[in-house]
Amino acid sequence: MTPLRFTALLAATQLVIARPIAAPAKVTVKQGEQPTATLPKGTPQAHGLATNWTWSESSSVKSVSKNNGVPVSISQVDDLKKFARLATVAYCTDSFQGTSFTCKNYCSDFPGTIVLSTFDTPEYGTVGFIARNDNQKAIYVVYRGSSSTTNFAQDIKFATTSYPAGGEVHLGSFVGIPHADQWKITIFHIIVPGFYENYEESRDLVYNTVVSQMKKGYKLHLIGHSLGGSVAVLQALDFYQNAGFDNSNTITYTYGEPRLGDPDFARYVNKTGLRIFRTISMNDIVPHLPPSAFGYLHHSGEYWIKNSAGDVVLCAIADDDTCADSTVPFTSIPAHLLYWE
Ligand SMILES: *[C@@H]1O[C@H](CO)[C@@H](O)[C@H](O)[C@H]1NC(C)=O
Ligand SMILES: *[C@@H]1O[C@H](CO)[C@@H](O)[C@H](O)[C@H]1NC(C)=O
Repeated sequence: MTPLRFTALLAATQLVIARPIAAPAKVTVKQGEQPTATLPKGTPQAHGLATNWTWSESSSVKSVSKNNGVPVSISQVDDLKKFARLATVAYCTDSFQGTSFTCKNYCSDFPGTIVLSTFDTPEYGTVGFIARNDNQKAIYVVYRGSSSTTNFAQDIKFATTSYPAGGEVHLGSFVGIPHADQWKITIFHIIVPGFYENYEESRDLVYNTVVSQMKKGYKLHLIGHSLGGSVAVLQALDFYQNAGFDNSNTITYTYGEPRLGDPDFARYVNKTGLRIFRTISMNDIVPHLPPSAFGYLHHSGEYWIKNSAGDVVLCAIADDDTCADSTVPFTSIPAHLLYWE
């Protein structure tokens, strides 16, 4: 994408820019992901990563027992689980009835929630909902992931584009605020004229709804599984830059979030101080895509579900090779769909 297009994009943002957008100096960071071994011949794989490796705490993972992660409290795990359930609800938005938050999975875990809006964008098919809970003083924006994880893992492309605030970000993800659902399609569509009208239309729905609904003491929760996690982070940055939101009123929970950008972008995300809980389930393949060898790096906030009992450690170093990266290349697509339950 040319810088010109970003100029057009920024000019189209009618809201006051509350945060100066300064490009960070280039950073060099260690890219932690070092495959522990090579896959046995014939192992089904995508991009050098196994697609269906059976999780085993002892055999497939290097030094899990020595991982640098710090165990998190039970109440913290409960919190991560709670919002994982809300992320799951984004796959059931069809069953909402008007403003009534009803579905066959976890809606009843969130009593008092009212649906403000659902979205399913026509061109890129980003699906999700916006809801409010006055008991919790919470606004929820929840994004669904790709409808096909298998296609996602196989077809993901690695192209990046410059992010206005610094660094490079995955092209499909950036396009995907809030459009992207299928990265492959998105990446090809970015060059289609007329895209920006579509982009603005959908981004404005989330942005304007949230800005108009946020009251004093309320907290915005941005939540997403898979690609929806990337979109949630990008949307959090958008609120940070354009609405002046910060970690006093915004919190982000992602589950199986792919790598979103390069080290400069990761550093920018870190620097905002936004609270982002980036949960990875065991040997889920998606957080290892795009591979770090392609210049991608995670931002901070890794919470790794390190065993099948569901215990979680906070990994202070992003891409720490003793946390989720220790599973590479023994990864799995099914693990992407298993966040505790
Ligand atoms: C993955 O492996 C499990 C157990 O080995 C097997 O039951 C399942 O069918 C496999 N799934 C795919 C998509 O290959
Ligand atoms: C972001 O923060 C994490 C955690 O403090 C750190 O490990 C990582 O190196 C930082 N990333 C960059 C690019 O500075």
